[in-house]
Amino acid sequence: MHDLIIRNGLLATSEGTVLESDLACDKGRITRIDRTISCNAKQEIDAAGKLTMPGVIDAQVHFRDPGATHKEDLASGSRAAARGGVTSFLEMPNTKPPTIDQHALDRKLERAAACSSANYGFFIGATPENIDAVNHASPVCGIKIFMGSSTGNLLVHKDEDLERIFGNGSRLIAVHAEDEARLRERSNQFSKNPANASQPNLHSKIRDAECALIATKRAVELSHRFQRRLHVLHLTTAQEVHYLRANRTPDITVECTPNHLFLTEEDYDRLGTLVQMNPPIRSAEHQEELWKGLHDGTIDFIATDHAPHTLEEKAKPYPDSPSGMPGVETSLPLLITAWKSGKCSLAQVLKWMCWGPAQAYNMIGKGMLQEGYDADIAIVNDTDYFKVSNEKLLTRVGWSPFNGTPLTGWPEWTIVGGEVAYSEGKINDSVRGKPVLFSNDQTQ
Ligand code: DOR
Repeated sequence: MHDLIIRNGLLATSEGTVLESDLACDKGRITRIDRTISCNAKQEIDAAGKLTMPGVIDAQVHFRDPGATHKEDLASGSRAAARGGVTSFLEMPNTKPPTIDQHALDRKLERAAACSSANYGFFIGATPENIDAVNHASPVCGIKIFMGSSTGNLLVHKDEDLERIFGNGSRLIAVHAEDEARLRERSNQFSKNPANASQPNLHSKIRDAECALIATKRAVELSHRFQRRLHVLHLTTAQEVHYLRANRTPDITVECTPNHLFLTEEDYDRLGTLVQMNPPIRSAEHQEELWKGLHDGTIDFIATDHAPHTLEEKAKPYPDSPSGMPGVETSLPLLITAWKSGKCSLAQVLKWMCWGPAQAYNMIGKGMLQEGYDADIAIVNDTDYFKVSNEKLLTRVGWSPFNGTPLTGWPEWTIVGGEVAYSEGKINDSVRGKPVLFSNDQTQ
């Protein structure tokens, strides 16, 4: 008797082939994949005709817990994740207080254990002062450095501080790469002109392509110099893609977001400050190069940078409006829809959203449907199209920049650790995720 059998699903292999099969789970793991599994199970799902794929791993989310839980908390953010087929997330340290020491990390881990509907991992944030914590607080998926300021007050931009962090320890360093000096200078310059008042598209001019390129180069050079494992978060520009294509080493991985793949500066006209984020959305030319970077492997995977702010906060006139958009709930349908429209293959969706992030972060047992792997599974309807609807979203802020867009690939069941965390539009609140395990973290 198995714990759970998914019957007749169209199982996605990591090569992108689809085979009709049963899949059994026991004690949170996938225990058997076979065309027909004859024994019974405590629970069965009829997945006939449905794409059955590994749960998505969203390696960059901001769930605001603690400190800004009116926007999101670990409960609401992880429920939104489960609705979007995301079974594991890595959460950023720019909370209040920020996750910059063991105490703050422990509080997040306790809170997630109590309320998270999906599996979780946390970054430790770097400051100019916390070198001990960044190297020893545990368990963490990596160190986050804001090289340019964004939401919250985490910032490390001076050479001596960056060198100390890159030069000590071996953990993965993930960078928000925007150049602080340039963005300060341009912000002052543009804000002096009254004609620029309340123009959200100014955001992409202040935080321009050069601003991103300077910081990305700086991080790559530090990685080369100290032979340090580097992950470049949310890449946005054609120039960075060209630079990384020529200068990537095996120590370096790169990610981009659905926002930069599906929105452009033209969307400021329609959506104003709703699409304001850091680094900003860019022109169609940059977007095209990001797709090329994904296709040729310069960019390894996709993460959402889910960064919820309320509609009220977003309605403040620019530049008082906060930067960031929610995204954890819509990334999989956006990418499945892109696959259906010929922008990429199913194999690429699986690499970019499932096994790519698992591999980059050395996650144990994640990202593939294989016997022995964790039973984190999304069963999606990839034939019918349903519009993104603000009313249906589970993120606490209740809006999406993609509201009204018809998408296919919505999950019908999301399974976390062998248990149904989401089905038929509802979250099963008895299911709890577990900490993601990382094979390179000696201290966990
Ligand atoms: O737009 C952004 N919002 N970019 C970030 O780096 C942080 C995020 C947030 O936390 O709001």
